[in-house]
Amino acid sequence: MHPLLLLMAFSISSTLIQQNFASTSHVNQYCRSYCGNITIDYPFALQYGCGHPGFRDLLFCMNDVLMFHISSGSYRVLEIDYAYQSITLHEPHLSTCDRIVLGSKGNGFAVEEWRSPYFNPTPDNVFMLIGCSPKSPLFQGFPGKHLPCRNVSGMGCEEYYGCPGWSLVGRGHMGSMFGLGPPECCAVPFEAIKSINLTRLECEGYSSAYSLAPLRVDGPSGWSYGIRVKYSVQGNEEFCRACEATGGTCGYGSDGVRQLCMCGNRNSTSNCDSASSSATRSGIWNTFGTVAGILISTLAWITANIF
Ligand SMILES: *[C@@H]1O[C@H](CO)[C@@H](O)[C@H](O)[C@H]1NC(C)=O
Ligand SMILES: *[C@@H]1O[C@H](CO)[C@@H](O)[C@H](O)[C@H]1NC(C)=O
Ligand SMILES: *[C@@H]1O[C@H](CO)[C@@H](O)[C@H](O)[C@H]1NC(C)=O
Ligand SMILES: *[C@@H]1O[C@H](CO)[C@@H](O)[C@H](O)[C@H]1NC(C)=O
Repeated sequence: MHPLLLLMAFSISSTLIQQNFASTSHVNQYCRSYCGNITIDYPFALQYGCGHPGFRDLLFCMNDVLMFHISSGSYRVLEIDYAYQSITLHEPHLSTCDRIVLGSKGNGFAVEEWRSPYFNPTPDNVFMLIGCSPKSPLFQGFPGKHLPCRNVSGMGCEEYYGCPGWSLVGRGHMGSMFGLGPPECCAVPFEAIKSINLTRLECEGYSSAYSLAPLRVDGPSGWSYGIRVKYSVQGNEEFCRACEATGGTCGYGSDGVRQLCMCGNRNSTSNCDSASSSATRSGIWNTFGTVAGILISTLAWITANIF
């Protein structure tokens, strides 16, 4: 066979294969999106059918503002940290250092039962409950002064009372100062109560803070206010990793439960290399590429041998 013909046959068939490959790999971007300057990627998604099923019906993008919606309410997403697997939330009724919000309108933080394995506020996130009734479940089962209130990662109410917001509402740690019932503010980690529900806890308000600095920042004006939540797909990383490694995009079926790997023009229940699903256009193109390659090579061989 003439080397030039061989080269031609090879380049034609590889072009066909490359075209087919490009058409499947470009859908990799199908589920990734942006909302304002926040990148939305697996396990999160804005489209139904994209991402992990535990994260469905969760994020909404409105006028470039990313919203996170769970049973306790809606929050603005400040950040998604994919490396640390955390999402930072904020809402208007969350008290900060400058503004204490009373009136029991705050969301707190509570997720649907089915979603709860996927979201947990980080252990270094402090929830500070404000103006809770002495009858609050928070103070039950703690005889005497053994309240559940404590500092979390060096952040707590003693320091929080130093915030300017307190002077504006004309309140402070009077309760604890005069020994009249529970303190005006009680700091707890999320694990201690598992659900921050102001109605159930009979509290007037709440704040939530986290500290990103590895060293203790001085004072509550240096804390970051918001709810820092750790997310996880619960040891279910393998499916998506295998799917993406074969050029697919991770998603789930219309039942909202079963994970799917989207491979261009077909969906697979494992990954894009698997032969488990029926013939598809991409499969046909692959076959076509191979058949074309063989035909051209044969033609080249015949041509080379005849002439
Ligand atoms: C995104 O934009 C907001 C203001 O709209 C800004 O505060 C924030 O720092 C930006 N985040 C990133 C990661 O660029
Ligand atoms: C694959 O699954 C996604 C998400 O459920 C769906 O939108 C899409 O139509 C499916 N594609 C095929 C070819 O079945
Ligand atoms: C909060 O608690 C109240 C009273 O117990 C209950 O009716 C409500 O459904 C709870 N909210 C959430 C989001 O769990
Ligand atoms: C929390 O930390 C402050 C300042 O370091 C300290 O004064 C206070 O006693 C601590 N509170 C609790 C409940 O441990």
